[in-house]
Amino acid sequence: MLKVAVLVSGGGTNLQAILDAIDRGELQNVEISAVISNNPNSYALERARRKGLKALSISPKEYETREAFHEALLQALKESMADLVVLAGCLVVIPESIIREYKGRMINIHPSLIPSFCGTGYYGLKVHEEALKRGVKVTGATVHFVDEGTDTGPILLQKAVEVKEGDTPEVLQRRVMEEAEWILLPKAIDIIANERKGAC
Ligand code: GRF
Repeated sequence: MLKVAVLVSGGGTNLQAILDAIDRGELQNVEISAVISNNPNSYALERARRKGLKALSISPKEYETREAFHEALLQALKESMADLVVLAGCLVVIPESIIREYKGRMINIHPSLIPSFCGTGYYGLKVHEEALKRGVKVTGATVHFVDEGTDTGPILLQKAVEVKEGDTPEVLQRRVMEEAEWILLPKAIDIIANERKGAC
């Protein structure tokens, strides 16, 4: 069993895609050992609780220093005994100390085809706004290993999504989630848990 800790900040639809893939039997040999959010009001925590999973809120606001927050986060990851850490819509900048600890064992999903529309400041709707502004006809999502840079780690999986005439950032965001993110993230975990060949 691969123990997986999922770090979230918001709605948790990517977390839900992982949970659904486990329920459908498509993702085997995986146990979600903790869901951790920096945002106590994250709906992702509610999704985790409903499943009876360990759901932890670790908010920087509860700590006097950034270092103390990072220490608490690392401690929670260690306690979860995670073999793999999945950043599923996690808006926290992960410190180098944690990245080093989980090198090769931490993945992130980003809602564009890296190296387009990624790096510092590219998160949430901003990514899709910029893709529309540039006029690309194809966008998508990427799952990559996390290294010390922002969205710079080795790419594990990518999936393309068509940009359509009249798309708004919201409409495009939804299509990228439905057609790419929710498929890619469970698949990436499956590749790692079950040593499958990556292809999409
Ligand atoms: C997704 O677009 C993901 O790619 C990005 O943040 C969003 C999270 O959505 N990193 P959710 O919380 O999984 O619904």
